[in-house]
Amino acid sequence: MKILVTGGAGFIGSHLSVALVKAGHDVRVLDNLFSGKRHNLGDVRGDVEIVKGDCADPRAARKAVQGIEVVYHEAAVPSVARSVDQPSLSHRANATATLEMLNAARDAGVRRFIYAGSSSVYGERKESPKRESMEPKPLSPYAVGKLMGEHYLRIFHELYGLETLTLRYFNVFGPRQDPGSPYSGVISLFTTALLEGRTPVIYGDGGQTRDFTFVANVVAGNLKALKARGLAGQSVNLATGRSVSLKQVLAAIAKQTGGVAKATRKPARKGDIRHSLADIGLARKLLGYRPLVDFETGLRRTVDWYRQAYGA
Ligand code: UD1
Repeated sequence: MKILVTGGAGFIGSHLSVALVKAGHDVRVLDNLFSGKRHNLGDVRGDVEIVKGDCADPRAARKAVQGIEVVYHEAAVPSVARSVDQPSLSHRANATATLEMLNAARDAGVRRFIYAGSSSVYGERKESPKRESMEPKPLSPYAVGKLMGEHYLRIFHELYGLETLTLRYFNVFGPRQDPGSPYSGVISLFTTALLEGRTPVIYGDGGQTRDFTFVANVVAGNLKALKARGLAGQSVNLATGRSVSLKQVLAAIAKQTGGVAKATRKPARKGDIRHSLADIGLARKLLGYRPLVDFETGLRRTVDWYRQAYGA
């Protein structure tokens, strides 16, 4: 199949692009290289058509979807904390970009559009685990933008018949996640801090929990979505169904790196969620998804990768 992966040079997008090429698909990547890097595509770089452009730019979007059957829209500026600091940047990269990609896809006759949603849309909902039937209550501009994207996908199915699906990712981690900014994912920050002998920062008391999902599981869910039947604007959790606290994460990383599980405490971040755990029953039912790699195995592979890439 001829497939477009937006954000395909980024963390999740590159893992997905590599898997699609290895499965024999013809892959094009649209990436503005804001945080993505060509070398993330590693071995398959030569087999992928890389187009530099911004998804929020209608001309770039239109060019990128020509001849495409399926779009995976992974491009985003993915940080709750950054969105609290820079709401407009977050809105453009997350909401506007999704609308422009959908518009372009509709006009070019794309058949299927699969979107990287976020667990952050559940926001202040206290119930656990999070189920798709719950009404979202976003707490940050990032979550609002991601939720807006979901609504656009749903109505693009209803209005124009595009086969659409939102996969709500829960705290994805793994090799190639960029630890280079204070907005980076917490596992990338903790791991590189311990490998480099620095003390990581915990915002809040460290008792917050997440359904940390190894990137290979997210790729597996996306591959299932390529062939699934009945995609009609649904939103589906993509996670593992297990919750781990931040303190446990730090202890596990310390054990694997030989570092000390000590952190500097700072006040909890605005817009932060306390507990996040997914019910993955719908992903099982609709996509036949099941997580392939457990947290410990995923963490080991991740720490090994950072040791190679960043270690002393
Ligand atoms: C959120 C979303 C996730 C989304 C991601 C994109 C939720 C539940 N999850 O993740 O779906 O894909 O944004 O960025 O909303 N922390 C520290 N020290 C650090 C960095 C972070 O203590 O140095 C804390 C944060 O305050 C937070 C937790 O670690 O409580 C996880 O943070 P982070 O990795 O940034 O992800 P979320 O904001 O949970």
